[in-house]
Amino acid sequence: MFNNIYNNKKIIITGNTGFKGAWLTTWLLKLGANVYGLSKDIPTKPSLYEALKLDSKIQHTFGDIRDYEVVNKLFSDVKPDFIFHLAAQPIVSSSFDDPIETFETNVIGSVNVLQAFKKLNYRSNLIFITSDKCYENVEWTFGYREIDRLGGKDPYSASKAGAELAFSSFFRSFINHDKNKKAVSARAGNVIGGGDWALNRIVPDAMVSWSNAKSVEIRSPKATRPWQHVLEPISGYLRLGQLLYQKNNSLNGESFNFGPAYDQNKTVLELLKKLGDQWKSCNNQLKTDILINTPKDLLEANLLKLNCDKALHYLNWKPVLNFETTIKFTADWYYEYYHNVKNKEGMFNCTIKQIELFESKAKEQLISWTENKK
Ligand SMILES: NC(=O)c1ccc[n+]([C@@H]2O[C@H](COP(=O)([O-])OP(=O)(O)OC[C@H]3O[C@@H](n4cnc5c(N)ncnc54)[C@H](O)[C@@H]3O)[C@@H](O)[C@H]2O)c1
Repeated sequence: MFNNIYNNKKIIITGNTGFKGAWLTTWLLKLGANVYGLSKDIPTKPSLYEALKLDSKIQHTFGDIRDYEVVNKLFSDVKPDFIFHLAAQPIVSSSFDDPIETFETNVIGSVNVLQAFKKLNYRSNLIFITSDKCYENVEWTFGYREIDRLGGKDPYSASKAGAELAFSSFFRSFINHDKNKKAVSARAGNVIGGGDWALNRIVPDAMVSWSNAKSVEIRSPKATRPWQHVLEPISGYLRLGQLLYQKNNSLNGESFNFGPAYDQNKTVLELLKKLGDQWKSCNNQLKTDILINTPKDLLEANLLKLNCDKALHYLNWKPVLNFETTIKFTADWYYEYYHNVKNKEGMFNCTIKQIELFESKAKEQLISWTENKK
């Protein structure tokens, strides 16, 4: 996988205690990497980071990316081959409650990462993760391309657009002139999968409610989202790292979208019904009730789709799972967590098995990151 380039490499992941960071850590451990984490806290209880007992498998630093000295010290101590920057305040609703913290973390924190990366004076690669929300949503029905206008109405979206502008400025001003450095930015949308417990996200809400035999309450049954399994964009981030490492200079400074096939854009209700069916197929005694409670004045932003032709063309990247298998991976993981693995020790093995299954499905489809070329 990934031409084996991650074996024995030193990798810093910011935001490693979060949902995506913990999946990325697990996959990198499987690929033989030495992982160094930097996060300010463990953002949820329970958390994937703890369920996988990752603290005993990596070197973790609790620190705030808003503090430049913390970031710079870790980068210069570790001398990483790769940095995956994921740390962020990632919740749109929290960005309304605390816009200052959102901008400080997502823009200034990201600038600190870029500056500390810039100061490394040996070969290193940066994969800078933002979001599909970095695009100005002008209510197009077609997919947004990497060249489309950045922007954002809410503080979270604007902060991600701000992070992208900082990336572009650092690339053109510094990184582009440094032969040791390579950097790319990656923009993915909503992800689902086992081990997410973030507030106000539909899958965690359903899994927590149903595992307590309660109904899940939803406000926007008709809202359509581009659902993809968390391993899909992560395979894109790892593919980017691989190609940068293999000195694919044409990618340097570029941005890439990672989203699902358009037929995976489903409503919240469709998603929940499928998730409920899968949950019941694990045990038909389980409750999967859905309570719809739509406020009269609810305003829903239209679906923002990503055009992923660039990733297909330059990276040979495409999604691996269809909607059904995305849901199956997700429900099966939570079922193991809540019903089978009593002491939770087994969640690391269960997660590794899902990654192996994902890899084998990708291999069947001849997706290029599965190849190991001499
Ligand atoms: N989950 C999604 O659906 C989704 C969609 C699009 C983009 N993203 C982006 O992917 C990245 C990871 O998202 P996630 O869902 O795993 O988030 P998460 O909330 O699960 O994890 C966030 C991580 O960032 C860390 N963090 C937050 N503030 C920090 C600070 N000031 N200093 C150091 N660490 C800090 C947390 O400790 C945690 O490790 C974020 O950049 C997010 O914006 C996520």
